[in-house]
Amino acid sequence: MSQAILLYLSRAKWAEIFVMRWRITRRVARRFIAGETVDEAIETIRKLNREGISVTLDIQGESVTNKIEASHTVAVYMNLLKRIDEEKLYPWISLKLTALGLDINPELCHKNMQKILQFASKRDIYVTIDMEDHTYTQRTINLFNKLRAEGFDNVRTVIQSYLYRSDEDIASFAKNAAGIRLCKGAYREPASIAYPKKQDVDTAFLRQIKILLNAAKEGRGYPGIATHDENIIKATKAFVADHDIPRDRFEFQLLYGIRTKLQKQLIEEEYKLRIYVPFGSHLFPYFMRRLAESPANLWFFVSNFFKR
Ligand code: FDA
Repeated sequence: MSQAILLYLSRAKWAEIFVMRWRITRRVARRFIAGETVDEAIETIRKLNREGISVTLDIQGESVTNKIEASHTVAVYMNLLKRIDEEKLYPWISLKLTALGLDINPELCHKNMQKILQFASKRDIYVTIDMEDHTYTQRTINLFNKLRAEGFDNVRTVIQSYLYRSDEDIASFAKNAAGIRLCKGAYREPASIAYPKKQDVDTAFLRQIKILLNAAKEGRGYPGIATHDENIIKATKAFVADHDIPRDRFEFQLLYGIRTKLQKQLIEEEYKLRIYVPFGSHLFPYFMRRLAESPANLWFFVSNFFKR
């Protein structure tokens, strides 16, 4: 099954209803998702922290269609923030603006972000706004800039290397010391706005990470290098060594349940590492994007399906 079909299915409500009926889906998805409840997420943070790994927690759910759903997302995030505060844990938080009402009303989304950031800032918790497909890029950057201008220095966002525009965005963010996670990009985008070839995406990623790392060396920003690509990780290690960039000026970020040997190796080599830990019951779009990224994941799912 092609990557394009899986990415199409990740957004199709009918496919979600159909696939989520199989119990096997939840079982296999557990490989990539920490659990459905806050308690399970807390347990995962503790386990990863014991291994020297930091965490960014993401509650699964995207694209709400009314104010009540958006308020519900905020309430769930506030509850999570209170719990991690009580438990004296210090993960970062990741979220999606469409889950906070961006499609309903940008001002509502802005207010929801302010509420979450105010609570998080008192506890030194950083909040990263995940980047969704290209129709949200400019709106996400606008809101991110607005929140920074309002004084929230605990807000971060994501840039996707596959977009042609990202060189300019990176240059501007590096200059302004913004907190950026750099990733390749997980959505199906047209060739008019994104590199269609992996080789070009990888070249752009390396070009952009060097700009962020040079800025970080001078005290501007703290980049998160979000990839499982061993060639990019190797090139990053060589670049920081050659340019005397201290290891506490950046971190590698990987997804929960993916390339666990590589995670262990990065910790042993004393690099900073943060794992993106998704949890919650609305796991279908995230699960489908992970299947699309790796034929091995798809094979794991299909073979478990037939073994059930
Ligand atoms: P690439 O796809 O080239 O893969 C490199 C190697 O890793 C390959 O061997 C591949 O098989 C393996 N690999 C990659 N993904 C795998 C998977 N799911 N399972 C098993 N093996 C896998 N995207 C986005 O659009 N917005 C966002 O906000 C984020 N946020 C984010 C946070 C973090 C911490 C990470 C690691 C990634 C994201 N992404 C994202 C996803 C990102 O854009 C991209 O789709 C994936 O990371 C896959 O790209 P790689 O850089 O890993 O390289």
